[in-house]
Amino acid sequence: MAPSAEDIHDKLAPSILSADFARLGEEIRAVERAGADMIHFDVMDGHFVPNISIGIPVMESVRKVTRLPIDAHLMISEPARYVEAFVKAGANSISVHCEVCPDIPAMARRIHDLGARASIGINPETDADKVLPFAEHLDMSLVMSVHPGFGGQEFIPAALDKLRYIRRELKRRGLSIDVEIDGGVKLDNIADVKAAGANVFVSGSGIFGKPDYGKIMNEMRELVVHTPSKL
Ligand code: DX5
Ligand code: ZN
Repeated sequence: MAPSAEDIHDKLAPSILSADFARLGEEIRAVERAGADMIHFDVMDGHFVPNISIGIPVMESVRKVTRLPIDAHLMISEPARYVEAFVKAGANSISVHCEVCPDIPAMARRIHDLGARASIGINPETDADKVLPFAEHLDMSLVMSVHPGFGGQEFIPAALDKLRYIRRELKRRGLSIDVEIDGGVKLDNIADVKAAGANVFVSGSGIFGKPDYGKIMNEMRELVVHTPSKL
C-alpha cells in the first residue's frame, strides 16, 4: 500500500557521537529512558570525512543494550563494502551518502534485501536533485545541516530551504518517506526544522551536552509536537 501523510511520525534520534564512549551502554539506556525513538550511529572512515569514529564491533555492543532502531550513518567512501556487516551487527537502517553512491536504486535494493531500511545522505553542498529522482526506492533521506565529520558544529541555515524543497517534492509525488535532519539541531532551531519538513531529528551535542537528557528531550518533543509542518 502506498504510504500516506499519516505514516510520517516525528522521531528524536540522539547521535551517540557526543556520548561518553567510556560509558556508552549507560548513555544509550539513558536516552532510551528519556524517550529516544532511534539511535543515530555515526561511522567515519577518515577518508570521506576528515575524522574517524566507531564501527562494526561497537554496533554489535550497542545492539545488545537497546531495543530501539539503530540508524548507521555511513560517512565512508566505500559503503557497498560494509552495508552487510553493519546490518548483521544490528543496524535497522543504513544511511549511505549520495556523493559516494553511483547507483541509488541498486544500493537501496541491497539494503532492503538484507532486511534493513534504506536511506541516502545529502551533504550541504550537494543538490537534493541528486537523490529525489530515486525517492520511491528509499525509506528516508538524510539532509546534512553541517559538513559531516564532527559533532558540535553550527547549523547551516540553507538546510532549511533544502528541507522545504525535498518535502514539497515528495508531497507532490505522493511519497511520505522520512526526512532526517542531521547537524547542529538544538532546542533553539528544532521547531524551524520541523516547520521546514523534517520529521526525524538527529541531535548529538544538543542532547548529550546537557545534564538532564529527559528534560531536554521533553522540551524538544514539545516543540516538535506543537509546530505544524508549514508545507
Ligand atoms: C556529523 C554527524 C552528526 C553529528 C551531529 O558528522 O553526522 O550526526 O553527530 O552532532 P551535533 O548534533 O552535535 O551537530
Ligand atoms: Zn550523523
